Amino acid sequence: MRPLAEEDAGGLCRAYMRNREHLRPWEPRRPESFYTDRGQAERVRGQLEERAAGGMVPWVLTRGREVVGAVTLSDVVLGPFRSAHLGYWIDAECVGRGLAVAAVRVACRVADEQVGLHRIEAGTMIANQASQRVLAKCGFDVIGTAPQYLHIDGEWRDHVLFQRILHRRPPG
Ligand SMILES: CC(C)(COP(=O)(O)OP(=O)(O)OC[C@H]1O[C@@H](n2cnc3c(N)ncnc32)[C@H](O)[C@@H]1OP(=O)(O)O)[C@@H](O)C(=O)NCCC(=O)NCCS
Repeated sequence: MRPLAEEDAGGLCRAYMRNREHLRPWEPRRPESFYTDRGQAERVRGQLEERAAGGMVPWVLTRGREVVGAVTLSDVVLGPFRSAHLGYWIDAECVGRGLAVAAVRVACRVADEQVGLHRIEAGTMIANQASQRVLAKCGFDVIGTAPQYLHIDGEWRDHVLFQRILHRRPPG
């Protein structure tokens, strides 16, 4: 697991093409341009700009030259809120080995120690029991259910919202 870099665009394109069906039930509908080197290069550039502005912390999981997963803290807000949203996926060939749990734990540690966050929020579709298990194992608690929370695989889907409080220290 390492920070996203500009040269990951090709690996991400191949990973999203390989995992199109695996990710389809849990992700927004993507335009065809998403599955191209150029589309991924633009997306990666946008994410790196957002990281430089302090709004996002994106990582990739790699095996050799291939990307086999991603973890992202997005919507990073500081001040008295000090919160971000967490997202992640693991290549279909690599699931069931504890990679998501390990990666989310690293993201939580960096969020606390380097980004200065107090809280991380994550939402999973009600049917996504694997993802709910990942969050439970990483110390996240259920906040509640948000009806029609995100537009996923062509529909507004209800989500179970989770949060993890990282510490009790005051901001700053
Ligand atoms: C969800 C996902 C990230 C999990 O990745 P992973 O590397 O397999 O996760 P881990 O191996 O670290 O842990 C998965 C846990 O869920 C459990 N699990 C897997 N499938 C499950 C299911 N259908 N029902 C209940 N638990 C399940 C595993 O047994 C494991 O728990 P355990 O360690 O107690 O046995 C991966 O399946 C994925 O990328 N799915 C598609 C994208 C996605 O859903 N992203 C998250 C959106 S919120």
